[in-house]
Amino acid sequence: MSRIVVTGGAGRLGRSLVSGLATAGHEVVSFDRTRSDDPALAGVAQVAIDLADADATAHALQEAHADALIHLAAIAVPFSAPEHVIMRTNAMLAISVLGGAVAAGIPKIVAASSPTVLGYGAPTGWVPGRFPLDEDTAPAPWNAYALSKHLIEQTLRMYARQTGDTIRFAAFRPCYVIAPEEWAGAPTQQGHTVRERLDDPALSAPAVFNYVDARDVATFCDRLLEALPGIPNAETFFVAADDALAREPLADLVPRFFPGTDEVAAVLTGTTSAFSNAKARRLLGWAPTHSWRSELPATDLDRKDAPTWTSTASSSSR
Ligand SMILES: NC(=O)c1ccc[n+]([C@@H]2O[C@H](COP(=O)([O-])OP(=O)(O)OC[C@H]3O[C@@H](n4cnc5c(N)ncnc54)[C@H](O)[C@@H]3O)[C@@H](O)[C@H]2O)c1
Repeated sequence: MSRIVVTGGAGRLGRSLVSGLATAGHEVVSFDRTRSDDPALAGVAQVAIDLADADATAHALQEAHADALIHLAAIAVPFSAPEHVIMRTNAMLAISVLGGAVAAGIPKIVAASSPTVLGYGAPTGWVPGRFPLDEDTAPAPWNAYALSKHLIEQTLRMYARQTGDTIRFAAFRPCYVIAPEEWAGAPTQQGHTVRERLDDPALSAPAVFNYVDARDVATFCDRLLEALPGIPNAETFFVAADDALAREPLADLVPRFFPGTDEVAAVLTGTTSAFSNAKARRLLGWAPTHSWRSELPATDLDRKDAPTWTSTASSSSR
């Protein structure tokens, strides 16, 4: 059992993460702007704080006496605010929170990055060197949100250079997070339902059809914190479902939305995801246990015109 501070604990991902870690037996403290009455946070300690206030944040982190910190608080959606506001906010929070955690001597420090650091969707085009995308794929952010996430990964490495291995760091890139209520029909982060995202590939294409169940992110973080002392410092991990959020193979879909990718996308047969979770499997022994095929109500799975094919994803995406 660890004492874990989660920043942004009242947010979309934060609620599932806090509740998953608490259920796993940890003592969790949520740091967010306001206290939330969401049932997921029932019984969880909450600190209402503006994390952009570096002095207040450093003080609160000193007082928290935490074994670990997971930093989620951010402007979490590209172009949801002016570019300079996203950059300033996320960069400021990175230094304020991660720097405060280092100063407080919290021995395990983890931060949420994003797959968008890879640069898909760039207006000038995007053709990766190969699929599936993984942690060796070179970052190429093309907007302030993606750049701010690249900066968070670099901020962790900067602190690792300052502190050496006395503090263990890691960044994780959760794919498009789907919370339990969203499988049941609540709107996802972009405002449409999971079913709408599946029925209209144009909705899921901006994320290259990636996704992950929020509960799988919670088990990932639990496993990551446990493994941190025994793995190389300041690593980055994709946190992705095993399959793609699509009813057709990505070998067909990806070239339709990303011109010029026909050849590299040819490996994305069956249900294979464009994003590999192999590193988390290998280094952490973590695996996702949720898929849209098991989580969506049967009525949504049974779309009459949906093609069927034999699954090949589980082996090829690992
Ligand atoms: N949801 C996804 O699909 C997804 C995918 C990839 C990465 N991420 C990353 O995961 C993290 C969480 O995403 P989310 O979807 O839960 O976002 P969210 O917007 O739902 O939650 C963010 C939380 O941070 C808090 N916050 C923001 N600024 C703050 C400040 N100055 N002081 C205190 N609290 C502050 C907000 O109040 C909110 O509760 C973000 O860093 C995001 O970039 C999310």
